[in-house]
Amino acid sequence: MKTPLPYVTVSYAQSLDGRIATKSGDSRGLGSPESLVLAHQLRRDHQAILVGIGTVLTDDPQLTCRLVQGRNPIRVILDTELRLPLESKLATTVSQAPVWLLYRGNGARKGELEAAGCRCLKVNDYPGAGKGLPAVLGTLANQGVSSVFVEGGAQVITSFLGSGLVDRLITVTVPVVLGKGIEAVGDLGVVNLTQALRPLSWKRWELGPDQVTELRFTPRQAPEEILGGS
Ligand SMILES: NC(=O)c1ccc[n+]([C@@H]2O[C@H](COP(=O)([O-])OP(=O)(O)OC[C@H]3O[C@@H](n4cnc5c(N)ncnc54)[C@H](OP(=O)(O)O)[C@@H]3O)[C@@H](O)[C@H]2O)c1
Repeated sequence: MKTPLPYVTVSYAQSLDGRIATKSGDSRGLGSPESLVLAHQLRRDHQAILVGIGTVLTDDPQLTCRLVQGRNPIRVILDTELRLPLESKLATTVSQAPVWLLYRGNGARKGELEAAGCRCLKVNDYPGAGKGLPAVLGTLANQGVSSVFVEGGAQVITSFLGSGLVDRLITVTVPVVLGKGIEAVGDLGVVNLTQALRPLSWKRWELGPDQVTELRFTPRQAPEEILGGS
């Protein structure tokens, strides 16, 4: 029997006009402190957190769940060419939580990154941005990962939403307007409204000044329910 693909939650904080960062890429502090705690709870409740190398190079994030009690997720980076800097917070905190780099090609920096404690997993059939997500999720499933929290950035969010492999989308909408900036979701090929991504169910609630919306695209059980978390 084939291992089922992991449960996938995509989540991001956005301005009222749908931007996840300013035009310079600044997104730190966009969500309220309450929303940041929610993000850390969701990180904890999934086995792995996944972001693109673009987010790592721009934000130098730690991707841990330090604001809540519980174990840190495995930190998975879609890093086609293995560009993760050795001095990044991820590479220098491997003792706090595993860092897995999913790459393709010759993996020229594999040796130095593995010496720093990162795990480099070659994904076959991984044609780069926008494609290859079944292979990415299949690789994670084969490593025993059953739930993945996708936290950005824009290209990765767009790839996942376009792939049909997302079980749940959680957006945090912040009452600010950014104008020109990095839009949360790019082209999904939607021309007619009938092609829009529509959930099976949804709910919405206030969190401090922010508004959280949860869309469920599949009937699969979400990880925090499985684990009995918050
Ligand atoms: N507000 C929020 O919640 C939030 C959260 C996270 C990030 N952000 C912001 O988002 C911005 C970064 O977004 P970004 O779009 O530039 O970068 P990104 O989505 O984090 O990373 C994109 C890169 O990931 C690699 N990649 C590998 N496989 C991919 C696939 N299947 N689909 C898409 N990408 C794949 C590609 O790099 P290769 O060229 O090496 O293949 C691609 O260039 C930053 O400004 C950050 O602050 C905001």
